[in-house]
Amino acid sequence: MKLYRDILIKAKQEHYAIPHFNINNLEWAKYILEECEANKSPVFLGVSLGATKYMGGFDVIVGMVNGLIKDLNITIPVMLHLDHASNIEDCKKAYDAGFRSIMIDASRYSLEENIAMTKEVSTYCKDALIEAETGHIGGSEDNLTSEIYYTTLEDSKEFLNNTKIDMYAPALGSVHGIYKGTPQINTQRMHEISSTFDIPLVLHGGSGLPSSILKECIQNGVCKINFNTELQLAWNKSVRDFIYNNIAVYDPRKIISAGEQSLKKEVKNYIEILGSKNKGL
Ligand code: 13P
Repeated sequence: MKLYRDILIKAKQEHYAIPHFNINNLEWAKYILEECEANKSPVFLGVSLGATKYMGGFDVIVGMVNGLIKDLNITIPVMLHLDHASNIEDCKKAYDAGFRSIMIDASRYSLEENIAMTKEVSTYCKDALIEAETGHIGGSEDNLTSEIYYTTLEDSKEFLNNTKIDMYAPALGSVHGIYKGTPQINTQRMHEISSTFDIPLVLHGGSGLPSSILKECIQNGVCKINFNTELQLAWNKSVRDFIYNNIAVYDPRKIISAGEQSLKKEVKNYIEILGSKNKGL
């Protein structure tokens, strides 16, 4: 897996964002790669620790993604990314297996511990893009808490002055999963952080946010936006409809791929909103 260090800087300068789509299996990786290639968009393929366990392990995933890139003649930049790794060991294991983009998410710990853990990961994974989070993004993340904790400018200062990371995910009101009520994203603070520090920002919990908010975040320094739930919802609906209407079909390839077109539609839609089409040439 290659290291694409310039890609986020270019996105920040030119005001677009690179989509991050979480993958769950071979089919999701294949559909996302095919659609991103068709639109010539760079992409982060996000893999959570849960998805890693589900697919068998880091080596399986690296082999699968490298194989798809080769056999499908994928030419766009693909960043295989470890998403929300909450411990150092898994970051090191993913790096050793070939991941070249890694998120150490020590946001559940004190700022000092978060800084120390992030430093250790960036020292070890020196040929990888490093993402880290401060504050707390709400939602179902690790079944912790659904509380949102907004990052302050002071916390950002303390964190960024003491670490060396490539992309920064300050919690500013976004939520993983489905939003309850109107999303309250603090784009004012996003702007302050982005203009104080020349670092590409990451927005988690992209699903369910209207395109106007996504675009406003991009104008305020966000260069990578993560999507998972919306793809799951679209795939799930199509597969359920297919099974309901084709009760005699039992071939798993037909059942799983019943969700292909609706998943690809979501991917294309987000590429258009984020402005990443033709940025992966
Ligand atoms: P959503 O599932 O809300 O799109 O969030 C995805 C995410 O942020 C993964 O890190």
